[in-house]
Parts: sequence; C-alpha cells; structure tokens
Amino acid sequence: MTHTSTATVTGILSEIQIVPVVVLDDPAGANELADALIAGGIACAEITLRTPAGLEALKGLRGRTDLLLGAGTVLNAADVDLAADAGARFIVSPGFGADVVARCRERGVTAIPGVATASELQAAVAAGLRHVKFFPAEQAGGLPMLSALAGPFPEVRFMPSGGLRPDNVNTYLDHPAVFAAGGSWMVPRAAQAAGDYQEIARLCTATRAQLAERIRQAQGAS
Ligand code: 3PG
Repeated sequence: MTHTSTATVTGILSEIQIVPVVVLDDPAGANELADALIAGGIACAEITLRTPAGLEALKGLRGRTDLLLGAGTVLNAADVDLAADAGARFIVSPGFGADVVARCRERGVTAIPGVATASELQAAVAAGLRHVKFFPAEQAGGLPMLSALAGPFPEVRFMPSGGLRPDNVNTYLDHPAVFAAGGSWMVPRAAQAAGDYQEIARLCTATRAQLAERIRQAQGAS
C-alpha cells in the first residue's frame, strides 16, 4: 500500500486498524521485518525507542513509501527531533507530555500520546489533540475504562495498546471511540531474534484475517 500525502496519519492508521508495536534488538533486520508486515497486510509500525536499535531501524527504513512508520516510547522533545529526523511520521508516547506534543507540532509529525486517566485525557484535549493512545489498556481497566473515559470526551478517538492479543483485540475495535489497536503480539522479539520473518508475516496475516472476519460478520449482521 502506498499512501498519498493528502491522507492524514490517523486516517491511514484508522484504515489499517492494527499498529504493531515493535521492540527491536538488532536494526539489521528492519527491512525484512517491514517486508513481513507488508506481506501480512499490516502496512504500519510503531518502532519503539526502548532500544537503541529502534532509531537505527527507523533510519534504515526511511524512504520506504510502502508502510507508515512512527516512533514509540518518545519521552521528550529531543526524542521527537531524533525520531522526526529518522523519518518517523507519527510519535507515540506512553504518557502525556506537553513538551512532546508541542515539538511534534513544530516538526509537523502527528502526536499520539498515551493516556490512562481523565486528567491526562483532559490535558491532551486542551493541547488540541483528538487521537490518543490508551495505555496500558488491559492493565488500566480495559474496555470498561476506555468506555468510561470516552463518555465525557465524545470527540476523542483512542488507540488501546498494552495487553491486547488476538482474543481481545476485536472487542476493542468494536468500540466506536477506537480508531486502531496497538500491540506486540504479531512481532515477537523471539521471532525477530531467530530471523523468522515468515512467522511474523504469518502472525500478521492471521490478525488481518481475524479483522476481515469481524467486518464480514458485522456486515452480515446489519
Ligand atoms: C506498547 O507500548 O504499546 C505496549 O508495550 C504494547 O503492549 P503489548 O506488548 O502488551 O502488546
């Protein structure tokens, strides 16, 4: 999938629906990993800066137009600069940081900060945002908590991440306030370490098939 420059980042993520959260130990496999995601029908990734390899991987993938790349675990404005310079088009943080959001705006990259409380959500909305990550989703109360947070903020769309797996992702995606779901289940570190990109492609394909089945059932029910 090649994305046009007119589509918004959150619009593209809403279409793809699933955002693999990647923790890389070795940037050498970044292109094979990207190929596996594409082969599995998931043309985006949040590459975390949890490991130094994350930034190197982003640099190695810069220029690829077949997938939408963002940086995760971005904790301060300096990280925003590093990630934007490396080609990230969206910036995900575990929590809300006004400095991160402001620098994203200056750099023209989309900020998706994490929220787990009403206060954090209120701060994100005050900063002009409409798309946030709900993190850590399962540990912070799961779908009931997301639903409760969405109540007073009907204009906000959430990307739950943290503890999502094939057996619970559909219930999140069914919620009208959810625009995409994040998770690491389709990009296991062990498979990356073993260079088993076929396994990653298989997990992505299975996830994509599960989503297609969900849409088919919803259409059948309407
Ligand atoms: C994240 O940063 O979104 C989470 O670490 C992903 O959580 P998971 O590993 O439980 O999917």
